[in-house]
Amino acid sequence: MKRNWMLVLVSGLGLYAGGAAYAADGAALYQSYCAACHQANGEGIPGTYPFINGPIGRLSEFPEGREFLIATVLFGLKGEMMQRGQVYNGVMPGYAAAMSDAEVAALLNWLKRQWNNANFGANVPDYTPEEVAAVRAKKLSPDDVHAMLQKVESIMHAVNGRGRGRHGTGGGPPKR
Ligand code: HEC
Repeated sequence: MKRNWMLVLVSGLGLYAGGAAYAADGAALYQSYCAACHQANGEGIPGTYPFINGPIGRLSEFPEGREFLIATVLFGLKGEMMQRGQVYNGVMPGYAAAMSDAEVAALLNWLKRQWNNANFGANVPDYTPEEVAAVRAKKLSPDDVHAMLQKVESIMHAVNGRGRGRHGTGGGPPKR
């Protein structure tokens, strides 16, 4: 019995030291804070909760997208947005009080490797607690985060061309 505990401890430390920092917490954090709305598979509920299966990978590829994702988790998001031809006009709560910088980084590092997000997000740099802290210091409102979303959409629109936007099927990842 005692020996099993030691093994768990040692393998846990190995994971941490091995650079897969915080990967272990991501799934649990998603379950606690996100899955109720965005669903276990990240597909959301069309027209009510947007899908985050795919967009999180693409947004993780460029600085404004990463900042938007961190800000959404910390401060929430409010205002109209479009996905796959559906309009969303909901309110997402922020989790700045509930989650530490390390937890937000862990959650996003897990998410960018999940589902279709991995197509774009698997090989981009991991989120760090420092990156999260820099956004936290901005103390944004959900409306501010919506303004960030519009900026991000215009960047991705310009990259994808043909009016497809980041939720379309065309275009490559944004190259900057
Ligand atoms: C209470 C329901 C709810 C919970 C819980 C929730 N969200 Fe959201 N989320 C929403 C809604 C609603 C929107 C769209 C807001 C709008 O219409 O402006 C959204 C939008 C988003 C977006 C923007 C999607 C895009 O394509 O631009 C991301 C990313 C996101 N949520 C991630 C998360 C993560 C990560 C968590 C867990 C920390 C989470 N959400 C928890 C309801 C929720």
